[in-house]
Amino acid sequence: MKIAVVGATGMVGSVMLKVLEERNFPLTELIPVASEKSVGKKIKFGDKEFEVVGLETAVAMKPEIALFSAGGDTSLAWAPKFAEAGTTVIDNSSAWRMNPKHKLVIPEINADLLTADDKIIANPNCSTIQLLMALKPLHDAYNIKRVVVSTYQSITGTGVKAVKQLENEYAGESGDMAYPYPIHRNALPHCDVFQDNGYTKEEMKLTNETKKILGDDSVNVTATAIRIPVVGGHSESVNIEFSKEFEEGDVRKRLSDFPGITVQDNPAVNTYPMPIYAEGKDDVFVGRIRRDHSQPNTLNMWIVADNLRKGAATNAIQIAEYLIENKLV
Ligand SMILES: NC(=O)c1ccc[n+]([C@@H]2O[C@H](COP(=O)([O-])OP(=O)(O)OC[C@H]3O[C@@H](n4cnc5c(N)ncnc54)[C@H](OP(=O)(O)O)[C@@H]3O)[C@@H](O)[C@H]2O)c1
Repeated sequence: MKIAVVGATGMVGSVMLKVLEERNFPLTELIPVASEKSVGKKIKFGDKEFEVVGLETAVAMKPEIALFSAGGDTSLAWAPKFAEAGTTVIDNSSAWRMNPKHKLVIPEINADLLTADDKIIANPNCSTIQLLMALKPLHDAYNIKRVVVSTYQSITGTGVKAVKQLENEYAGESGDMAYPYPIHRNALPHCDVFQDNGYTKEEMKLTNETKKILGDDSVNVTATAIRIPVVGGHSESVNIEFSKEFEEGDVRKRLSDFPGITVQDNPAVNTYPMPIYAEGKDDVFVGRIRRDHSQPNTLNMWIVADNLRKGAATNAIQIAEYLIENKLV
């Protein structure tokens, strides 16, 4: 397998390289791709070094799979060129997610939709992936009517510029700003850009991508997305109203049985998910599971995951593994 990693020098791209290596991905040649300013840089992978190339060179090399994480504009312009050359693109940007011609995939939920004709496959938004991992087994059992989610999102979700901004602020130095305000000792009710409806794009991704992945337009999601000065992962406070009655023990069991979920929920000994412990792990962690006594059939819980791993790199690489295992590339 010849694999291109487009955006290899970025936040998600560098975790993709790490995850490919950790999972012993069946790769014979790595093609690291970035912008013109990085062409010629050396990338270490295993015991070898690979040179960063530009997009045009990468298309000509005809990789079997290209893992894209280089922003929406790059995906819109270049994913079709890779696809035309016979490469299957798995894209981490929002460019193709809501396009009805393209599948939006979390392997544990809907990989079975994939066929050999899917040449551009969309990876969902990081905060959507961890939310849906926990919603799916509960939706199957009790049918979700409405979800109210508030996110507490890591600065790594904004890319290398945001991590640099926080480091500069820690050090008391000035530099490029990824956000309109300081992030150190702050919380910004602002992830991605504001839309005319008063919500940010990140908030609307949670609403729209949920319906597409569950294949169910009746599931209503309302979201508030907050950026906080944390690096290990995103956290979500989630309130879920079901149409059917549930038992808390059954909720815990269904979540524990779902692949990729770890339940961490024992308030008696202060056990609950936190981003410092989720960092570097592939699982989605769920805790603070409790009935909402303010209305019937309603549950509260807290979901944490490393946004660069299951929220981006790991999910994309699981899709690639599924394609290979099922001979779809
Ligand atoms: N961070 C997350 O948690 C997360 C989660 C899910 C999805 N995503 C998505 O993944 C993408 C990348 O995010 P990131 O956080 O990794 O950003 P980042 O740290 O800023 O990295 C961006 C990468 O894209 C490359 N790039 C930029 N413009 C390019 C161009 N014109 N041609 C080729 N390469 C180009 C950069 O190369 P240079 O180093 O040469 O500039 C770099 O490798 C975004 O679409 C983002 O929405 C991010």
